[in-house]
Amino acid sequence: MSQSTASQSGTFKIGGDIQINRLGFGAMRITGRGIWGEPADRAEAIRTLQRLPELGVNFIDTADSYGPDVSEQLIREALHPYGNILVATKAGLTRSGPDRWAPDGRPDYLIQQAHKSLDKLGVKQIGLWQLHRIDSKVARDDQFGAIKSLLDDGTIRHAGLSEVTVAEIEAASKFFKVATVQNRYNLVDRGSEEVLEYCTKQGIGFIPWYPLAAGDLAKPGSLLDTIAAKHEATPSQIALAWVLKRSPVILPIPGTSKVKHLEENIDAAKIKLSDDEFEALDREGKAYSGR
Ligand SMILES: NC(=O)c1ccc[n+]([C@@H]2O[C@H](COP(=O)([O-])OP(=O)(O)OC[C@H]3O[C@@H](n4cnc5c(N)ncnc54)[C@H](OP(=O)(O)O)[C@@H]3O)[C@@H](O)[C@H]2O)c1
Repeated sequence: MSQSTASQSGTFKIGGDIQINRLGFGAMRITGRGIWGEPADRAEAIRTLQRLPELGVNFIDTADSYGPDVSEQLIREALHPYGNILVATKAGLTRSGPDRWAPDGRPDYLIQQAHKSLDKLGVKQIGLWQLHRIDSKVARDDQFGAIKSLLDDGTIRHAGLSEVTVAEIEAASKFFKVATVQNRYNLVDRGSEEVLEYCTKQGIGFIPWYPLAAGDLAKPGSLLDTIAAKHEATPSQIALAWVLKRSPVILPIPGTSKVKHLEENIDAAKIKLSDDEFEALDREGKAYSGR
């Protein structure tokens, strides 16, 4: 069967402005173990990035802390000057070693990191910059104020948040227009359902991270397994097709360091679940998530 492209997943305008194909790419996995240092196979990571435009992927999610720096630097090496690709980055988490992440929301630090990302990515403006975490040790309004200043001086064009509640999106909205929200969400992890509903109503892009997860729902003989077989697809592809159908503001960013996996993930763009299949999976996923 022919390879599908991300354009088959439909389009979305970030901040009502920058049009992207909905199925994007998460660039956290092109780093070393524990999201630390260089990837195990650097050449394959570069090939994976360079395959993105060929597959119609024009939305990449990264962060200053992936590596740290490694992900942004590899993206630049592989894809600069980017063409129509939107490279969205983040800051607000510091790294002191593999798998170690600590929030730092001091305004000066956030501003400094946004400027470093400009340099690392080799761009004059970051199209979408996201606060990786709200730091509970710093007044949240000060963090939102720093983001407003980055928007006002043109360092960044649009701003988003990550791992937030509806109340936090509303608080940030007093300072700037929230373009995207990035929370963990997938078929079997539905803790952000209320945030997704809010984003859908407000037209805010909702970027579900860890979108490939299907947990035990993918067991042989399960509903997910049966639906996957009917579509000649893998359970992960069905999990992606499900999030794509869940809301038009959902922008999944499956991440991988391998061309083969990338191609498989983008092939999910062509899978069209029926309403009955969607609802049956929805019920099972919700029940699993609530356990
Ligand atoms: N905002 C936040 O706090 C936050 C947190 C986590 C992640 N993120 C973002 O969200 C993106 C996605 O999240 P995620 O990486 O946690 O989850 P994910 O994309 O659902 O899963 C990635 C994992 O699945 C594997 N994989 C990918 N495609 C595969 C395939 N076709 N077959 C088999 N295995 C496959 C990858 O390994 P291989 O490399 O071997 O393919 C990797 O271990 C990240 O890249 C990052 O940009 C954001």
